[in-house]
This record gives sequence, structure tokens and C-alpha cells, in this order.
Amino acid sequence: MTNEFNVAVLGATGAVGQEMLRVLEQRKFPVKELRALASPRSAGRKLTFGGREVTVQAVSEEAFEGVDIALFSAGGGTSKEWAPKAADKGATVIDNSSAWRMDPMCPLVVPEVNLEAGRERPKGIIANPNCSTIQMVVALKPLYDASRITRVVVATYQAISGSGAKAVEAFLGQEKALLDGTDVDTSVLKGQLAQNVLMHWSRDVESGYQEEELKMVNETRKIFGDPDIRVSPTAVRVPVINGHGESLAIEMEEPMTPEQARELLSKAPGVEVVDDFGEGVYPQPIQVAGRDDVMVGRIRDDVGNPGGLQMWVVGDNLRKGAALNAVQIAEGLFVG
Ligand code: A2P
Repeated sequence: MTNEFNVAVLGATGAVGQEMLRVLEQRKFPVKELRALASPRSAGRKLTFGGREVTVQAVSEEAFEGVDIALFSAGGGTSKEWAPKAADKGATVIDNSSAWRMDPMCPLVVPEVNLEAGRERPKGIIANPNCSTIQMVVALKPLYDASRITRVVVATYQAISGSGAKAVEAFLGQEKALLDGTDVDTSVLKGQLAQNVLMHWSRDVESGYQEEELKMVNETRKIFGDPDIRVSPTAVRVPVINGHGESLAIEMEEPMTPEQARELLSKAPGVEVVDDFGEGVYPQPIQVAGRDDVMVGRIRDDVGNPGGLQMWVVGDNLRKGAALNAVQIAEGLFVG
């Protein structure tokens, strides 16, 4: 008989938390009891899970009593405060924020790449990587295994849902304001995203990079356990609600042809090759919503770097980029 687990979701009312509930349900994760946790503002709200009504509780130490697996997606500050408390109560925390990702005592896991790292978790906390990193490393893994990757130049085209439910609402409000000819409210999104692109993540002024970009550099190295991979990132927010795109230029120790890469990618777990450029077939964000696999297309020789490859990767940022990856970690480590 399969074991069943008491599962808590902290941030259950948020964009990723809601997706976590959906993914647990869809994948029939063996949940004995589900605890939906959020801030005191949401206490008493009703959600449905597995056809039953679940009442949202304000997060508290008692709420983690008896919990086996706690999925967190309630922001870095909340994770810093509550993950150690949940772990003290015996829960394994799988945290979607950036709070623990670079802590050497916390594994940073993408199951297709390094599930085994999740078994060693001295703090009882496993970190879920940044959404852009996840979809990139899933697509890089089969190539890396065939010929070590030495450098990746990546530009992201990131959807707004990664910033949470309130950001999506603000974006729709901006689009409406433009149609209505009224003032565009830029407060929530730190700029106008409607009819525009933004680079509005926290800035590391010394390096000239956004923190979102540095996450891709550092997390990729940690996940592959290879401190020598060079990553040159540019992160861009585009006016798309869901589905991140990424343009990658890859350099490997041994040159690889597009045909070899296509063959390796088509057999790789978590990847779907969608690549018939002559017919206008390539991955698009509107196609990826609700899908588990990362879609890869436009696989081609890098015209500016002979022996290298370029490709285009699209993933559902709420799903593989966040909720699904967290649930897959739990499945891989607990359900087997
Ligand atoms: P709440 O809805 O009660 O504010 P999103 O990323 O979509 O904005 O969602 C953030 C999630 O994190 C929500 O579920 C939110 O709950 C939760 N959250 C935010 N701050 C806290 C906090 N201090 N304690 C617990 N949950 C929090």
C-alpha cells in the first residue's frame, strides 16, 4: 500500500500555491490531510481540494504539527521565518522562494537533473530553483551529459504570472487603462508592462546585473554541481500572462550538431521537442499553459560560434517553473 502524507501548502491563496494544489490533485499525490496556509488576512477562506472544502488557516507553529511535507510559496521573508519552524516540527520543507537556494546546507533540486541531492538535507529544507533556471537546466541536462557545457548565453522573455496574482491583476488593469485612454497605474509593476518590456528586478549595482540574472548564474552552477559553467544572462519581463521563453546559445566541450541535440532532447525526461521551423512550428507561451514538459525548438548551429548551438525553450513558469517542480521533488523523494 502506498504511504500517505500530511501535506501543508503555505501560500495556498497565491498564484503558485493555487497551482500547487492543482498539481497535487492532478498527479494524485498521496495526500492524507491537506493544510492550506496563508497570512492571517486569508484565514477562514474556503478552497477546494480533492472535491472537498478546505479552510485556509493563518500560518502558525501548530499548523505544522504532524505535517510530513510542507510546500512553501509565500515569499522569501515568510520562508526565512517559517521554514525552520516547520522543519523543527518534523516536516520536510520544499521552498519556492529564493531564501534558501544558495545555502550550502540546503539542496537545490530539479528532479530531471539532480534529484539525489535532495536526500541530503541537514536543515530539513529543500530549495526549488528560480523559474527561469528550472526550464533552462531541464533543456540543458541531456546535452550536458553528452558533452559538458562550458558556457550559456541566455535571454529570458518572462511572463507576468511569475510575479504573483496581484501583478497579473495590475497588468490587466494597465491594458484596460490603455484601451480606455486613462492613466496607467505603474505602482505594482514598477513601470508600464502593457505594450512594453521591463527589466525591473532588484539591481546589483556593482555588477550591473539584476538579481534575477545572477540567480540563473549561481543556481545553474549549484544544480549541475559545476562551478565552472559560465552563464551570461539578460532577464526581460514581457507582456505575456503565463509561459516563459528563453533564447539560449550554448558552448560545449565537444561540438554537437542540431540533429544530435534534437535526438538527445527528444529522449530526455521533461522535454518535448517542437521544432519544424520550415513549417512555422516552434514553442510558444500560449501553447505551454498547463503542460508539464518544457518545449524546445529552433535548435540550430550557432552562426556566430561554430560548434555551438542555439535553441528556444518555453516552459509553464507556474507549473514546471514552480509548483510542478516542487511536487516532483516530493514524489521523487517520498513516493518513489
Ligand atoms: P495571503 O493571500 O493571505 O496574502 P502571490 O505570490 O500570488 O502574491 O501569493 C503570495 C502567497 O503568500 C499568498 O498565499 C499570501 O497569503 C502568502 N503570504 C504572503 N505573506 C505572508 C505571510 N506573512 N505569512 C503567510 N503567508 C503569506
